[in-house]
Amino acid sequence: MRISAPTALIVAVTLCMSVPLAVLYIAEKLSMSPSITWHASQEAGSILLSKKHPIPSDKQAVSPMSPSLPVELISNTTSSISSSVEGEGRAMPTHVPPVLIAIDKGKTFQHPFPLPMQRGQFTKDKPWVEKDCTTEEGQPLSCTFSLHSEAMKTAEGIYYHMPSNMDMPKKSSPQQVLFCVAEESPSYYPTLNDANHMSKCDAEATLRTCSQVRQYFYERLQDKVTGRLDMHVPPVPFEVKQHALVYINGNCYPPSGRGKIMEGLLALGDTAKVPVHSYGACQNNRHLDEKNKEAGGAKTGVISKYKFCVAMENSISYEYVTEKIWEGLASGCIPVYLGTPNIRDLVPDPGSVIVYGPGGDVNSPLELDALMHKIGSDRALYESYLAWKTKPLASLGSFYRNSFLPEIQTTNECRMCRFIVQHRKNPQQKYTTCLFNETWMEARRKAGIGRKSFVRRRQRS
Ligand SMILES: *[C@@H]1O[C@H](CO)[C@@H](O)[C@H](O)[C@H]1NC(C)=O
Ligand SMILES: *[C@@H]1O[C@H](CO)[C@@H](O)[C@H](O)[C@H]1NC(C)=O
Repeated sequence: MRISAPTALIVAVTLCMSVPLAVLYIAEKLSMSPSITWHASQEAGSILLSKKHPIPSDKQAVSPMSPSLPVELISNTTSSISSSVEGEGRAMPTHVPPVLIAIDKGKTFQHPFPLPMQRGQFTKDKPWVEKDCTTEEGQPLSCTFSLHSEAMKTAEGIYYHMPSNMDMPKKSSPQQVLFCVAEESPSYYPTLNDANHMSKCDAEATLRTCSQVRQYFYERLQDKVTGRLDMHVPPVPFEVKQHALVYINGNCYPPSGRGKIMEGLLALGDTAKVPVHSYGACQNNRHLDEKNKEAGGAKTGVISKYKFCVAMENSISYEYVTEKIWEGLASGCIPVYLGTPNIRDLVPDPGSVIVYGPGGDVNSPLELDALMHKIGSDRALYESYLAWKTKPLASLGSFYRNSFLPEIQTTNECRMCRFIVQHRKNPQQKYTTCLFNETWMEARRKAGIGRKSFVRRRQRS
């Protein structure tokens, strides 16, 4: 994405005006002033972060503009956080040194994917402080991401967004953890399947379940108010739903073949038993009504009123699962899925989706139309696909339970900081990225993906 200079200026000015001055002030304190640098030192086997020059904690000195917020922010990002969490009879550590992760911006400075896209741009001089991050035990954790060159030298972790930077950044010290980050599939970014490249990552942060810090797409769906995605909201009642397949996509002919399948369905014309309603850019035949437009045209609101929804990935790669399926499941339409062959292991219930393609439920537009009509004409059968919403959580799929339940949802960035905290306990530990994970590679082979042989190299021998 290229942004013209005037646009960039407008964006920058708008951002500056909308971000509280106090936060800018702190950002400046954290990254611009040469007298304040992050300092990593290794003592007694654990990496400790400390400030060479602590920021004064006096409210007046810190911020004459905003009385309360900046002090908290500064204390959380610059000093150790104490908490009095008590374990079962055994004192838990009450001291979590803050985590700083440097973002390598590469040559092109295309954005590291999740952070700026979702939360507004940040710059070299304005680090990202991940709010409300805690350790897995629930202790507050100060988690900061910075583009500053100084951070590249001292941070405990380096965030390296593979797709926008083909050259791997150089670590400043062997202790730094280099995270290879990507939220796209290997079909777009072949480096993900390059064993030589992946062998140099300390930890993988991708969509694959073998990642040390798995990237989830649920953040895209989080409730604006609660910050959480409730997958278990009750569906719109059967009798109110449209007996149709809703289709909202902007990329009409992605490599997965979605475009051709949709063409095939639309070509059924009047003979289709379940018509396609397309609101997106592809074969559009429906427009959002005024009420929906007012609600921001929220996709989940629109698709919730349909019995079936298209949840077909842009590309087919093992475990490449995006927001499309989660939106469908959360909205209570039955997703028609095309993508990773092991989707039934990833969704809350294997019987919650219609799977298109080899090994799935249907393999042609005609078969899909017939199956949707059968399910959509039988209330009990239809509702069996949505039964997972009210089933006991313990009976749902383990992938779902271990990653999606609102109680344990957190952001990708916070989980990256948590990883660093875990890593401090054993700084010598080496991790196995996916292409070197035999279990995972075997599962992928079984799924019929990745038959190509990979050049295997020993990782970090
Ligand atoms: C900073 O930490 C305090 C105490 O742990 C907490 O109450 C406060 O919400 C934190 N502030 C931010 C901005 O994270
Ligand atoms: C290998 O991948 C699986 C997930 O497919 C994961 O559960 C396991 O922890 C990984 N093993 C290692 C050594 O990282």
